Amino acid sequence: MSTKEKIKQFRLYKQKIMEGGGKEAVAKQHRKGKNTARERIELLLDPGSFTELDMFVTHRCTNFGMDKEEAPGEGVITGYGTIDGRLVYVYAQDFTVLGGSLGEQHAAKICKVMDLAAKTGAPIIGLNDSGGARIQEGVDALKGYGEIFFRNTSYSGVIPQISVIMGPCAGGAVYSPAITDFIFMVKEKSQMFVTGPEVIKTVTGEQVSAEQLGGALTHNQISGVAHFAAEDEIDCFRQVRELLSYLPSNNLEEAFCDEDGDDPARTDLALNEVIPDEASRPYDIKTIIKSLVDKGKFLEVQPYFAQNLVIGFARLDGRTIGIVANQPKIMAGCLDVNASDKAARFIRFCDCFNIPLLTLVDVPGFLPGTQQEYGGVIRHGAKILYAYSEATVPKITVILRKAYGGAYIAMCSRHLGADQVFAWPTAEIAVMGPEGAANIIFSKEIKGSAEPEKVRAEKIAEYREKFATPYQAARRGYVDLVIEPWETRPRLINALRMLTNKRENRPPKKHGNIPL
Ligand code: HXC
Repeated sequence: MSTKEKIKQFRLYKQKIMEGGGKEAVAKQHRKGKNTARERIELLLDPGSFTELDMFVTHRCTNFGMDKEEAPGEGVITGYGTIDGRLVYVYAQDFTVLGGSLGEQHAAKICKVMDLAAKTGAPIIGLNDSGGARIQEGVDALKGYGEIFFRNTSYSGVIPQISVIMGPCAGGAVYSPAITDFIFMVKEKSQMFVTGPEVIKTVTGEQVSAEQLGGALTHNQISGVAHFAAEDEIDCFRQVRELLSYLPSNNLEEAFCDEDGDDPARTDLALNEVIPDEASRPYDIKTIIKSLVDKGKFLEVQPYFAQNLVIGFARLDGRTIGIVANQPKIMAGCLDVNASDKAARFIRFCDCFNIPLLTLVDVPGFLPGTQQEYGGVIRHGAKILYAYSEATVPKITVILRKAYGGAYIAMCSRHLGADQVFAWPTAEIAVMGPEGAANIIFSKEIKGSAEPEKVRAEKIAEYREKFATPYQAARRGYVDLVIEPWETRPRLINALRMLTNKRENRPPKKHGNIPL
């Protein structure tokens, strides 16, 4: 064969692979309102930046007629490119080829880019669209999954790992995304479940649609498995790119600093009006967050799940910070099982990747009730305590209003290692709310009085006056500074600058044993 013919042969071979599962399969994918794997990579990455690897890899299975089955690209496209000019690795499962099912070689391609991502310190993004383990390959497919899970774990805390679910993701396949740092789902297009509707119907008799069982809203609102829900694939890629803009590429880097940030000296008098006079009146914590951070830009993570607690990324002084805040608007901002899980995992992500933590506190306590106790609020609540105590990134806390009991300690108090604790004059730092406290410590006086309600009101007022303030904590040095709300932003930036070179070590160990 001449050189010319060899090049022609190469081009044809490559062309065939580029066509994936062929015109009909591609048309079917488009009819479902989904892009192909190649189209998705083009949409996600900077234009023209993608370099594909392992295009010619194929399976070596001979079972059930697989020896005659071609699998262009082995059902997954892998490689690297850039997002906003920064290196990322990507794999995209190609549903048009054997339903994007995962065989031994398909997994090997994914593992190769994961290894490269870890070695070069760049994020990895997986675009999942797959029928799961390639049934014809049997245990070889399971081995493939296992090797991916092993790497997901090994590289956890080394490079950001992002999973984007763009179609089915079923069975044990869900566990790779579950180990990664963030899961994006597309409404009406992606589903995740360990056992599908058919199996559920057979085993328990329950009837449920795939979307109800494992759709984007289910996992964003109810289970908390997913972190972001997108309207469509384009919206999803926009969100992935936005998230990456806040993250460093690996655990040895600082996050990218936006030099064109906001005025560090900017203040906001309106903040002096935010806290209502009545202690039980709610307000929206996001108003405060947006006022404090650069350009009012806040990327909320898990916005639909455990809304009594708000988490997300923003910038202060150009630098990425992670925010954890109680939301008084929902369930008075109390902590519960779900909020604890949500906070703890986020705190640990920030700590892995050198992202300072800002905690905004207005918390009446842990949610009481048998449901919470039986659900293990002790075990789950302990995760927040553990995660904050373990975190060595700069930790700044602002107590806005209520900070009662165990929840005061849990919300990054001085006692869990906060580096700077600010309190507004409206802060109420106490063992419990004035009503509960007065009822207990003055019960004899109240019950023994001819006018118990009058005495109760007096005692509540007395307790509130004495303890429901920031001053007892400030007198002990548990609060470093009591500040006015309007000046919070420059105070935070000043503290963040002061903490830039913070170094803190924990006793050497293999790893701790976080309550799970
Ligand atoms: C091999 C598969 C496949 C699989 C789909 N295909 N899933 N081939 N192994 N797991 C093939 C189909 O045979 C079909 O081939 C093509 O992909 C497209 O599939 P369709 O069924 O036509 O597509 P659709 O109607 O959109 O349905 C999608 C689907 C369905 C819901 C995902 O394909 C499905 O239920 N697949 C099986 C899912 C499953 O049970 N997987 C194993 C889970 S257990 P042709 O040639 O007809 O085009 C598992 C364990 C992992 O994953 C454990 C890890 C630890």
